[in-house]
Amino acid sequence: MVLGALLEVQAGQGLPWALAAKQSAVKQSPEKPVNDTSDDVEKLIKNSDCASCHAVDRQLVGPSYSAIAQRYAGQASAEDRLAKKIKDGGAGAWGNVPMTAHSDLSNVKLKSMVRWVLAQKAANAQAQDRKTYQYKDKDGKSVTLDFPVFVEGSDQKVTKDIFKGYELYNSYCYRCHGQDVTESELAPDLKRSLKQGMNGQQFMSIAMTGREDKGMPAWAGFFSEQEIKQIYMYVKGRSLELVAVGRPPTEGE
Ligand code: HEC
Ligand code: HEC
Repeated sequence: MVLGALLEVQAGQGLPWALAAKQSAVKQSPEKPVNDTSDDVEKLIKNSDCASCHAVDRQLVGPSYSAIAQRYAGQASAEDRLAKKIKDGGAGAWGNVPMTAHSDLSNVKLKSMVRWVLAQKAANAQAQDRKTYQYKDKDGKSVTLDFPVFVEGSDQKVTKDIFKGYELYNSYCYRCHGQDVTESELAPDLKRSLKQGMNGQQFMSIAMTGREDKGMPAWAGFFSEQEIKQIYMYVKGRSLELVAVGRPPTEGE
């Protein structure tokens, strides 16, 4: 794990001996059971990439924890099976989007995580009143989005989310998909993917899961749900040509 590697480097650079000793003690007992208090397990889950793809009460890339708890309620054999599933990854139980593998997690940790997931009671996802936003694309056709592209009262200044999406895209996605979502020989034109009907949910699934065999990295654990959504919003704004090539003006400028 990244954190482990970091601590090791720092230890080598002369951490106080007491702390270094403590770390090596931890290293010598990698299978030390995780305390099953929900605080510890929640921390473990937070420090892993689970949150990029799962939430307690609503589907993200994968099913909600409460839906998983509901499906396997009362099945004693589920614990081992689910621990193995998280370790190996794979699809088929909920749909055809695969979970990525987690071969670096010990069985003890995996089981604690599964027990925690299975304890998440069906919290009824609150039906949100979704606001919609109307824009005209460059041909004058009306389009409806469930997020705003521009700040209120402007048709130039983009929202903070779109601007963040612009920055993230041009830091991490541009080198294969093209600067400002233009074209590239290395990877598909994402404007075209969206024009052909790919929705936000599908965009997030591919971005988090990746298609490593085809050269598309998995971004789960690196990006949060919110960050991939921001990238999606920017790409959507570009695909409708509401947002032009280049740095868009934003709030407070
Ligand atoms: C890249 C996205 C992604 C990440 C990261 C991820 N999951 Fe999943 N998870 C999924 C998907 C997609 C499914 C549904 C798989 C299927 O249909 O078989 C799933 C299914 C599950 C299931 C149910 C499996 C079954 O067979 O019913 C559990 C439990 C689970 N995930 C826990 C976790 C935990 C704990 C972590 C973190 C260690 C994690 N997941 C990380 C995407 C992800
Ligand atoms: C190292 C190169 C590389 C980087 C960086 C990269 N991608 Fe990709 N991406 C690809 C390739 C190659 C494909 C085509 C995979 C295939 O053939 O199915 C792809 C496909 C996709 C698709 C599916 C498009 C379609 O029409 O099927 C999405 C969505 C996507 N990438 C999003 C992103 C996002 C968001 C980022 C930045 C966070 C990103 N990619 C960064 C290489 C990359």
